[in-house]
Amino acid sequence: MKTPLALLCGLMLSAAVCMAQGDPQPVQLNHSLAPKPALCATPPMGWSSWNVFACSIDENLIREIADAMVSKGLLDCGYTYVNMDDCWHGERDADGFIQANAERFPHGIKPLADYVHAKGLKLGIYSDAGSETCGGKPGSQGYEFQDALTYARWGVDYLKYDWCNTENVNSKGAYALMAKALRASGRDIVFSLCEWGDTRAYSWASEIGHLWRTTGDVNCCFDCELDFGGWKSLGVLQILDKNEPLRKYAGPNHWNDPDMLEVGNGMTVNEDRAHFSMWCMMAAPLILGNDIRTMSKATADIITNREMIAIDQDSLGVQGLRYRVESGLEYWLKPLQNGDWAFCVLNRTLSDRVIDLDFSAFNMYDNLSGNAFRSASHTYRVRNVWTHKDETPSNRVRTVTIPAHDVVVYRLSY
Ligand code: GLA
Repeated sequence: MKTPLALLCGLMLSAAVCMAQGDPQPVQLNHSLAPKPALCATPPMGWSSWNVFACSIDENLIREIADAMVSKGLLDCGYTYVNMDDCWHGERDADGFIQANAERFPHGIKPLADYVHAKGLKLGIYSDAGSETCGGKPGSQGYEFQDALTYARWGVDYLKYDWCNTENVNSKGAYALMAKALRASGRDIVFSLCEWGDTRAYSWASEIGHLWRTTGDVNCCFDCELDFGGWKSLGVLQILDKNEPLRKYAGPNHWNDPDMLEVGNGMTVNEDRAHFSMWCMMAAPLILGNDIRTMSKATADIITNREMIAIDQDSLGVQGLRYRVESGLEYWLKPLQNGDWAFCVLNRTLSDRVIDLDFSAFNMYDNLSGNAFRSASHTYRVRNVWTHKDETPSNRVRTVTIPAHDVVVYRLSY
């Protein structure tokens, strides 16, 4: 039987250029993309295995996490995706189809997806544009269409696509190829690019994926940078500083991703609260990275703060901005629907700070959203997002204490 060239190229080889048998001319694959499915009107929310479990994952863990997502009220708050990160993989079969690790996932991925779906959750998976993943498992390079088809058959809803072992690979081409494969699979799959901002995916990927990492890996510390030779991992403040200038690239269905949350993994409660708040101020994807089965009440209270989550998930979909910096304090604003604003003061220092906060001093116009913060002429209602209390209106100056490495966050309603 004659093998159709398109099938050979598309399904098996997935190379940028295929040679027809006996044809000296290279045949260009058509890389035009079907329209991207609109799956992320607001930043995606869920959980990922990597920060706490790294390669120690199996199907029991994923099931228990899915159970906890429901029993701890996380699904009700909007956390939907249960994402397996690196190391779920086994080998490819004789036809090149990827298999799950048979010891860790003896029932395979499809029953796991069914289990997760029956709870109202969605399942995420992980691969890499190179020959191997960052953890040394089989990458998707050369198998893009087969892998996308496999994920779709399993019922996968979300793909994080990493960037290890990609020497001499063009990033836009590689990510566009997997985007095309996902769309050709016929299943709606969120596409999360993970090239760490190295090739500025934020500037070219809005039609390719739903979110893209903007930085190297997060480290569980508030203010640090760890150098591992070829790569660095970054604390909360270091990631904040890299992600903030990129606000113009983010919006509904195309989000900057400053990496997964480290809330509950060892920082202080103040730092965890600040970390979570700043990710919400930046309209970041909220992908939990802790062991939600055993988390403390303090951690649960932070990640289930619905008023804070509502700021992240606001339908305007505009990333907040750092408006003013004053001796270790930062004043952030995020425009929200219906003329509301989120207002946050971040204390980067190691001392508690007391300020007289006068909202009228922050009157401003945001070019990106076209929204104005009319604090000099308009009196907003003021709601403290962490104490869950209404406060005196915005035309009154208030004395506020911001503990070290902590925040105060208000919602100002028009
Ligand atoms: C990279 C990614 C991480 C994680 C690991 C898995 O470092 O940036 O988020 O997925 O790979 O190996």
